[in-house]
Amino acid sequence: MAKINSNYAKLAAGYLFPEINKRVSAFASANPGVNVYRLGIGNTTEAIPAHILSGLSFGAEKLGKRETYSGYGDEQGDKRLREAIANYYLDVDAKIAPNEVFVSDGAKCDSANIQSIFSRDNVIAVQDPAYPVYIDTNVIAGRTGKFDSKSGQYEGIIYMPCTEEEGFIPNVSSFRIKTGEKFHGLRINLKADLIYLCSPNNPTGAVMNRKSLENFVQYARENKSVIIFDAAYSWYVKDPDLPKSIYQIEGANECAIEIQSFSKLAGFTGVRLGWAVVPMALAVKNSKPGQLNGMWNRRQTTFFNGASNIAQEGGLYVLSPEGRSECGGLVNYYMNNAGIIRKGLESMGIKVYGEDNAPYVWMKNPNGMKSWDFFDKMLKEARVVTTPGAGFGPSGEGYTRLSAFGHTERVQEAVESIKKNLERTW
Ligand code: MLT
Repeated sequence: MAKINSNYAKLAAGYLFPEINKRVSAFASANPGVNVYRLGIGNTTEAIPAHILSGLSFGAEKLGKRETYSGYGDEQGDKRLREAIANYYLDVDAKIAPNEVFVSDGAKCDSANIQSIFSRDNVIAVQDPAYPVYIDTNVIAGRTGKFDSKSGQYEGIIYMPCTEEEGFIPNVSSFRIKTGEKFHGLRINLKADLIYLCSPNNPTGAVMNRKSLENFVQYARENKSVIIFDAAYSWYVKDPDLPKSIYQIEGANECAIEIQSFSKLAGFTGVRLGWAVVPMALAVKNSKPGQLNGMWNRRQTTFFNGASNIAQEGGLYVLSPEGRSECGGLVNYYMNNAGIIRKGLESMGIKVYGEDNAPYVWMKNPNGMKSWDFFDKMLKEARVVTTPGAGFGPSGEGYTRLSAFGHTERVQEAVESIKKNLERTW
């Protein structure tokens, strides 16, 4: 008799973005013809620049000739692209070998799947608020207890509150280690085994500095924990003193996996391309160096047939000097939008964060309004779709995320609509 995975029943709500779409569709059907501005999901809108596009076209053209046609490629990725990615790390003063790079169809899949190479009794630690994929996939994998609607937390997860007072940066010492607590009957003292970090952060836009990353690397090395570092937004870091990769921190290759994406860099959200780095030096309590790299290789060769060869050809063009300069133009475009959103909100006396080194603006709701209430207010009064902070975790309650991905003229109109139509209760 087949049985369902009962862990799905533990999930507190539907996945955040489809949930938002449901509410927006209900609003649209109740208000036909009303124009809605979308500053919710971080979805790119600008055309792929010419040189990068020529890489994608070249990839497609190669498939049209017998001499250059290719079918399945290496599951780990095209050798040339793995080398180009390893070279990218030299630009940020980090050393990664091509055989430590695994090309994928995007950072979301890697963030979701990477937990599968770790034992079910590992305790995970997440930033609060955080990208929901980290938690939901661990819930599905059976690595948590039940959801507690009072605290907004799952049993067995260590939440690292990223608060306004702490600049939305997680602090190793803020781990809520619940000594004596039972977890699945498996262990008594909770120590973080898998630590998810995202910097620049989605949703808050906060960037961890060198010191805070060093503290995490030190903790991970001392405890034989693994940091899963999501660097998908690193391309937006302007401040040269802020790290763009965890591997800029000494010793990180012994304790960290990094996940990267072409989506927000080159407008590849629909093309689908990313990578994960699993260093040879990475080892945990019951593994040898190289073993986790081999396990991820085993996982990918079993579950995945490699990223699209067209997308990978495009990826090579993205990482060329011309492609990198085109990407710089895209990044500046979206960062200009972020500035427009910030200025507009500030002019209304709203407190905003993020934005300097990330394509998200994180705002504090006026009058301590609850996230979903403010989401409804923005939608009904200003016709602007946002993302409620509470959707990213309990510490996101009372905040709202606005995405800077959009056509500038639409972003401007959205901001004008907020200024004109949002009823001020503060
Ligand atoms: C977001 O809006 O948080 C992201 O665009 C979602 C994603 O990258 O999957």
